[in-house]
Amino acid sequence: MKLNGVPATLVIPLYYRAVESRDIAEDVRIFDDIHSEQAMSKIDYDATHLSDKKMWTTQVAIAVRTALLDQETVNWLKINSGKECQIINLGAGLCTRHLRLEDQIGKNVNWIDLDLDEVIELRKKIVNVERCQQISGSVLDDIWMEGVEMNIPTLFIAEGLFMYFPHEAVRKILGGFADKFKNATYLFEILGWSFEGETQNVEALDDFEGTSIDFSPVNISTWLSENVSRVKYIKHENIQSHYHKRWRHYRFLMKVLPSLKDKFSNRIVLAGSSL
Ligand SMILES: C[S@@+](CC[C@H](N)C(=O)[O-])C[C@H]1O[C@@H](n2cnc3c(N)ncnc32)[C@H](O)[C@@H]1O
Repeated sequence: MKLNGVPATLVIPLYYRAVESRDIAEDVRIFDDIHSEQAMSKIDYDATHLSDKKMWTTQVAIAVRTALLDQETVNWLKINSGKECQIINLGAGLCTRHLRLEDQIGKNVNWIDLDLDEVIELRKKIVNVERCQQISGSVLDDIWMEGVEMNIPTLFIAEGLFMYFPHEAVRKILGGFADKFKNATYLFEILGWSFEGETQNVEALDDFEGTSIDFSPVNISTWLSENVSRVKYIKHENIQSHYHKRWRHYRFLMKVLPSLKDKFSNRIVLAGSSL
């Protein structure tokens, strides 16, 4: 199957999760993920560009973002322990989070993966999705929501997704969820704000024509209050504030100039809305 544009980018996080699990020394490894290793081995993909030594920061960034999103997901599961609730994984790609966290996802949790039709078809072949509901559709419209429960606690996860959309699209997506879902939590990733509109500086995207970084505002708290005021900012974590050893010399630079973090490195944002 040949994927183009943004759907093709699903290989990037899968590849680097597999590298983290397979190639990084145990004493500094951030997580094990045999499921990503297995999925990567089933894909016919020339990863020469991604395996270049100079791509180490992207590899660490993806490992850290994965770990932070896993941790926040576990926190949310604990808060909702025993309640009927759901997790909606937007732009799921070949994400293996439900498998990494399988011991912590109770029967009370419905896990839904949403992605474009061709990706969901690929996902069903490559990843074990037995316990998850797979929905084909675009997050840019709400046709996919037909039949989705809106009155139970819902966690939306958007990993490696919103940054490819214009501001207006993200405003509509979050505003639409806040209008419909009674109790929603949002966990999404944005890049450092210097990358907004600067695709040529995002080396991991060099091989992916038709992709550009649009959404990575300077101050996400202000952006939310000015654009989707029903969605309340809770916090954001900068990936460079975690797993210091792995950031090599960058950790010294960021210690001296902490204000550079949000400019140059990915942020994981937590927000919420209720009706
Ligand atoms: C960089 S990949 C991230 C995949 C996954 N979240 C992960 O971290 O492994 C981006 C994903 O977003 C999906 N995507 C892009 N546009 C979309 C849309 N309009 N609706 C739903 N998914 C979309 C792509 O197909 C792709 O699987």
